[in-house]
Amino acid sequence: MQESRPVVLVTRKLPDAVEERLRRECRPRLNPQDRVYTTEELIDLAQGADAILPSHTEQLNASVIGSLPDSVRAICSFSVGYDHIDLQAARERGIVVTNTPDVLSDATAEIALLLMLGAARRAHEGAQLIRTATWREWSPTYQLGIQVTGKRLGIVGMGRVGQVVAKRARGFDMEVHYHNRSRIAPDLEAGAIYHATLEDLLPHSDFLSIHCPATPDTRHLLNAERIALLPDGAVVVNTARGAVVDDDALIHALISGKLFAAGLDVFNNEPNIHPGYRELPNTFLLPHIGSATRETRDAMGFRALDNLSAIFSGREPRDRLN
Ligand code: DGY
Repeated sequence: MQESRPVVLVTRKLPDAVEERLRRECRPRLNPQDRVYTTEELIDLAQGADAILPSHTEQLNASVIGSLPDSVRAICSFSVGYDHIDLQAARERGIVVTNTPDVLSDATAEIALLLMLGAARRAHEGAQLIRTATWREWSPTYQLGIQVTGKRLGIVGMGRVGQVVAKRARGFDMEVHYHNRSRIAPDLEAGAIYHATLEDLLPHSDFLSIHCPATPDTRHLLNAERIALLPDGAVVVNTARGAVVDDDALIHALISGKLFAAGLDVFNNEPNIHPGYRELPNTFLLPHIGSATRETRDAMGFRALDNLSAIFSGREPRDRLN
């Protein structure tokens, strides 16, 4: 009898429960060493595969997609972001692309709040003082941060993650403002104040949290001109994609004191981030762990597998992108 389970190239090591389900439902080509494949390796390993299950660490641009074997019919990404995949090129080759929305909104929102709090309350410097045994004395004027409670939060991109961040921020009595391509429904807004342009939003953002996707249109969305529109002493937080921020402009504003601090979980050119960020005391930096909880990474894997299984059983996948 012919084996009908699809052959799936899985580019990174996934949680155990996800790999177990992969073994049951597919014929997976796993990556137990979790090495990031070169483009050549990826194309090579895809020979004879029916599908690829990549993460955002694999660049599936037009040239890579053009070099994939004809056997590949689906790319089910283990990520909500899909800036690493050329959707148009995939469509032209008849390859269905899916992502994993919804399941990581809570985890990512947690990290956005952590970054906001950590940046505002100088958590990085405080932790350093403890770890390097350089904490000398308590003082009324020592290590003063700025309070989060009651401040204005500007959200760029009021999608799923932005909405959860808004909800959590209300627990800190923050006044929520947002900019989005279009205004969201009043019940989803839950009192958040809509600004039709980013330029309108920025002056109302004591804290600015970025949640829009990386696209050619949002590249360096936060640049020097826009940073100048933020209130003096604002805090910038990014859990979306590094490409949305102009690093040089942000670093300049952190050095000049225009911004009080920045909390960043995503960067241009990860993991080789702009060295300027590391040198500054007023940055609170994390290594792209927005969705990194056990619960969420399982859920992302299962969601990618649900999409894969729909495609190979002739159903419309829930999270089709192209
Ligand atoms: C996502 O899902 O896009 C996260 O950034 C992890 O890849």
